[in-house]
Amino acid sequence: MIQLPLRRFRDKFFPEQLPPPDSFDGQTILITGATAGLGLAAAKQFASLGAAEIIITARNKSKGELAKKRIEEASKYGGKGKGDKKVTVEVLELDMNRYDSCVRFVEELKEKMRKKEGKGTIECVVLNAGVINPTFVESSEGWEQTIQVNTLSTTLLALLLLPWMKEMQTDHKTPSPPHLIFVTSRDHLDPDISMWAEWARTGSGILQHLSSEENFPSGIMPNYDISKLLLTYVVREICKQALGSDGRPQVIINPVCPGLVQTDLGRAISQQSLFMRIYLPLWLRTWGKPAEYGARSYVAACLTERDDYGKFLVSLYTDQEYSQMAIPNLESETAREVQGLVWAEIMGELTTKVPVLRNSMFKFGGDGQEDF
Ligand SMILES: NC(=O)c1ccc[n+]([C@@H]2O[C@H](COP(=O)([O-])OP(=O)(O)OC[C@H]3O[C@@H](n4cnc5c(N)ncnc54)[C@H](OP(=O)(O)O)[C@@H]3O)[C@@H](O)[C@H]2O)c1
Repeated sequence: MIQLPLRRFRDKFFPEQLPPPDSFDGQTILITGATAGLGLAAAKQFASLGAAEIIITARNKSKGELAKKRIEEASKYGGKGKGDKKVTVEVLELDMNRYDSCVRFVEELKEKMRKKEGKGTIECVVLNAGVINPTFVESSEGWEQTIQVNTLSTTLLALLLLPWMKEMQTDHKTPSPPHLIFVTSRDHLDPDISMWAEWARTGSGILQHLSSEENFPSGIMPNYDISKLLLTYVVREICKQALGSDGRPQVIINPVCPGLVQTDLGRAISQQSLFMRIYLPLWLRTWGKPAEYGARSYVAACLTERDDYGKFLVSLYTDQEYSQMAIPNLESETAREVQGLVWAEIMGELTTKVPVLRNSMFKFGGDGQEDF
């Protein structure tokens, strides 16, 4: 019980080492939700490690422009435009409350990359944007917002981007497989899934059950752990789709937990009461690490090798500890059944509401490997 706070405390003072300063020289990195917190800190780090181009997303144009300026300042080349080495920062609009915004964003991204002189590839994609909602908020698509943003829209982005990223590798545009990073959380270990299959069999489904206002849990971060567990199921399914015909990954996928980090992720919780406004920042400052340290886990995730493909990256547990802790929600018989049911529901939702996904060549369906 005491182990987790102690390891958080350790991580606060002993961060992961940064890789050599040329680790991302010439690369293009995409990070969703990089206007603040971990996304912004990671963008600055990639810029300081030589990335040639950073693409970030924002809902608010002026916030995006401010972030762009800060990333340019952090660039390895100081943003001063030394020859052609100045980092380029692109800000694209993305609101993950709506599927049409996700689709438009991916189309705009691909169009921009197509028009580029040279390779037009992306070496790393970090799906970082996420929310915590202490009260029930319904998204434009009719789902509870935490599940919408953290799970459904993140999945949609991954499904739209993956075939394109695989092509980069098969066309030999990138020397090694590009990286696709999902920002999850160790909290996916916490939900109790014992009733989930039952909801699928006898009710309107797992997603509907978890997303309905009457079932919205109490607590300070309701549905956050659930949204990250749903995302972990998705990552495990998407991993199967990233393999080439030779069985080797064409895109290196990793879910990553940055640990407890001092960001504004809990802003909606602070707004709940005066107590929370005082307590939450104090608690975070005591146990959480600075965003710059948390972002190092994204940098490390973008440097993994094929052998680490699919591995959950977290500094809070050893591999052995995690594999034990993951049994109930990920490795048990119940968990495997729930994962299949969740994946089928999510694919049903996305292919119904996002026709462009149906038209893509992407394959799905676990063992069955059906085409759309
Ligand atoms: N902080 C931690 O301790 C911690 C621990 C484990 C995992 N994580 C994960 O790390 C990721 C980043 O969190 P953070 O701590 O850096 O929080 P943050 O400072 O609140 O940053 C979240 C980012 O996501 C964007 N975002 C939120 N809702 C969005 C939407 N509907 N559409 C598009 N973008 C949206 C925000 O953009 P706007 O500026 O438009 O709001 C912001 O750039 C999240 O996935 C979180 O779950 C954080």
